Amino acid sequence: MTEPSSTLADAETLARRDRDLLIHPYLSGSVKERVIMREGDGCRLRDVEGREYLDATGGLWLAQVGHGRQEIADVAAAQMSQLEYFMSFWEFSNERAIELAERLVSIAPDGIRRVFFTSGGSEGNEAAIKMARYYHHRRGESNRTWILARHQAYHGIGYGSGSATGFPIYHEGFGPMLPDVRHVTPPWPYRSELFDGQDPTEFCLRELEQTIEEIGAHRIAAMIGEPIMGVAGMIVPPADYWPRVRELLSAHGILLIFDEVVTAYGRTGNWFASQYFGVQPDVIVTAKGITSGYMPLGAVLVSEAVAEALARDHGFPMGYTYNGHPTACAVALANLDIIERESLLEQARSTGQYLLDRLRSLESLPIVGEVRGVGMMLALELVSDRDSREPLLVTPPVEDVARHDAGLIVRNCGHNVVLSPPLSMTRSEADELVDGLTSVLERLRPDGTWLD
Ligand SMILES: Cc1ncc(COP(=O)(O)O)c(C=O)c1O
Repeated sequence: MTEPSSTLADAETLARRDRDLLIHPYLSGSVKERVIMREGDGCRLRDVEGREYLDATGGLWLAQVGHGRQEIADVAAAQMSQLEYFMSFWEFSNERAIELAERLVSIAPDGIRRVFFTSGGSEGNEAAIKMARYYHHRRGESNRTWILARHQAYHGIGYGSGSATGFPIYHEGFGPMLPDVRHVTPPWPYRSELFDGQDPTEFCLRELEQTIEEIGAHRIAAMIGEPIMGVAGMIVPPADYWPRVRELLSAHGILLIFDEVVTAYGRTGNWFASQYFGVQPDVIVTAKGITSGYMPLGAVLVSEAVAEALARDHGFPMGYTYNGHPTACAVALANLDIIERESLLEQARSTGQYLLDRLRSLESLPIVGEVRGVGMMLALELVSDRDSREPLLVTPPVEDVARHDAGLIVRNCGHNVVLSPPLSMTRSEADELVDGLTSVLERLRPDGTWLD
């Protein structure tokens, strides 16, 4: 990274202009501080005041290859000089979109054959929900309109994707949401109170079966789920959950949409979490890690059966201006090249396991109820009491204290502290992360106050 060039006065002016002009998602009005990032290199970030941070979230859970890769910038510049953009509607296409679709199908789980590009995750889930309804419509089952989703799911903020999102807070003030969406209980093994002491998979499967019976299978288009729930707090389901859900849905002709917006492109140490769980979804929604965030892009991957129904006779009747954006696709190809060349799937598995093992030593602290994760998706669930497992919510939150005191970017999801670092994180950076987080959490008391 270069030497900082801003003075503190510049930084304050920028913060004031930001406060005057920008509408930030989810920012509490009482927060006046702004953290204005200027540059990044690998897992390191530096803000306009010259403060350095270790990025343990990859921004919003992407940055697979880390920040500041000149190689990707060069590819984008070359593609922009040749053909920055053209549409993919009707018969139009471009070389990079074709190459990327081919590449995605080659690494995707068995059964995936075609690709529909978007600009991000919410757009992808919007498209997937429409695809599911349209698939049944074209097969003569227009009554299949219902979408099953899960409580505590996050699928984005459109009206379809947002309705599938299972946190009431994301719906408040925006209603009415999409009709015909039903949320069921997700398997969260640590929260055994959700399952009346029963086995989580058994409980969830029974509830799912009852829900299908109640609505009527002939009225249900699809079930959508994150293979590992991110925003809920990196909830890893029992190994038998997804295979059994898949089996049940197939028996009723209900499509399975995997929202792999976070999990795809190496986060679990596999290209897709579908492969980790040994499940073949009908539709896989991806975004984020496809470009490591260097350009906005998403890709919805579909099985041949779904693609055939959608595109038979005429093209799928919806599209985005940026479908198959050549520069974004070129960047995605360069990003996938790096993941492959630098063996980042293997690195995600080994560094993820190393982080998990080291973080597990924090379970000796009274406030850490559980440490869990797969690959580079990790969480610490904070509790005020390990026996009652009462969630521990603190002010200021751990993410603020970690940033101010230890230069660490981590994130609070409710009472969970979640980590999703670049897959390229080194062992010494992983040590720095665990040591920094340990020093922060050791100062947190079970009553939610901080030791000075
Ligand atoms: C699982 C999941 N799905 C969908 C989305 C929405 O993606 P986007 O913010 O690109 O619209 C997110 C964003 O974090 C996500 O975590």
